[in-house]
Amino acid sequence: MALTPTPADKFSFGLWTIGYNGADPFGGPTRPPLDIVDAVENLARIGAYGLTFHDDDLFAFGSTDAARQSQIDRVKQACADTGLIIPMITTNLFSAPVFKDGGFTSNDRSVRRFALRKVLRNLDLAAELGAKTFVMWGGREGAEYDSAKDIRSALERYREAVDLLGDYVTDKGYDIRFAIEPKPNEPRGDILLPTVGHAMAFITTLERPELVGVNPEVGHEQMAGLNFAAGIAQALYQGKLFHIDLNGQRGIKYDQDLVFGHGDLHNAFALVDLLENGGPNGGPAYDGPRHFDYKPSRTEDITGVWDSASANIQTYLLLKERARAFRADPEVQQMLAASLVPELALPTLAAGESYDNLIADRASYEDFDTDAYFGGKGFGFVRLQQLALEHLLGAR
Ligand code: GCO
Ligand code: MN
Ligand code: MN
Repeated sequence: MALTPTPADKFSFGLWTIGYNGADPFGGPTRPPLDIVDAVENLARIGAYGLTFHDDDLFAFGSTDAARQSQIDRVKQACADTGLIIPMITTNLFSAPVFKDGGFTSNDRSVRRFALRKVLRNLDLAAELGAKTFVMWGGREGAEYDSAKDIRSALERYREAVDLLGDYVTDKGYDIRFAIEPKPNEPRGDILLPTVGHAMAFITTLERPELVGVNPEVGHEQMAGLNFAAGIAQALYQGKLFHIDLNGQRGIKYDQDLVFGHGDLHNAFALVDLLENGGPNGGPAYDGPRHFDYKPSRTEDITGVWDSASANIQTYLLLKERARAFRADPEVQQMLAASLVPELALPTLAAGESYDNLIADRASYEDFDTDAYFGGKGFGFVRLQQLALEHLLGAR
């Protein structure tokens, strides 16, 4: 069964995902390099609307200006030919040896200044290509040894960097917002801003917090044992979901970057239901790109690369259809009501009621018979979850 994506679905892929050559810490590449024009043409063929990349994915670190420009011209032409857009770009501050102790937060000040220059240059490129989101994944911003990194100073330097970038886009008039991507570890032993919660708290310390949100990745929160859909709900609640990285992860281990849904499928279902149906009026709660940040497994050849890329899209569309059926099922609606799910939307105090009124309300406490009221009655959450599972498995 193949579902047909449209540009309105806003599916996008990182050039580093489909371009991953299979190298890992234990073995070299299993696939040849992928040319940018080939990448763009195949993404258009499988129904993506967007391509994203790090500067170094498109032109090698240290490229001459001419080589850099030639690659920029080629990606522009390929996008013009296929209709693909570039909704997001990001900067590689982790591969080159100079960034071995980080970019914005390296102990070495000259490395920090070089990192800022690399990002400023890439911001000009983002504006030129029409990208609206600039992701910041600080993979090397961290440490292995507690005595080797002063965390408060590192956070100060991080803040200094993001504030400077905020000044830059504001002064230049660029229509660009930043999205910080949390990750708990890998490649560093511990990475700064390890979870969505840490990142959102950090954003409140910035000079222009309105310019900065988060780009959570499924696997990264799951590497920390957290509930991804719940973290996304909080990011939405705080108006901070600026971008999202979809993929699959099986438990607390190394960053697997599997195809979306090839990990915790129940949570993927809850996530798609939230993104598509969790808005205030039952519509989409998020209207940005559905960005896949996965790695085609090392075992795959180039056919497997495109099959796996397409699998991300197909899984998302299948889950979207399953979530729609779940919401439309009268039995589900009945169970939601029986489980009092809608009642959580009612404010706990009545309009205008004060704590004095609450204290005066004997029914709320003195006369509230906790045993008689509940009488052992359950909420029925398990039945509700089973209905979700039956929809997920296509049994309803
Ligand atoms: C990871 C990260 C990276 C970032 C990318 C964007 O898998 O550890 O997701 O792939 O998303 O570098 O900056
Ligand atoms: Mn990852
Ligand atoms: Mn990512």
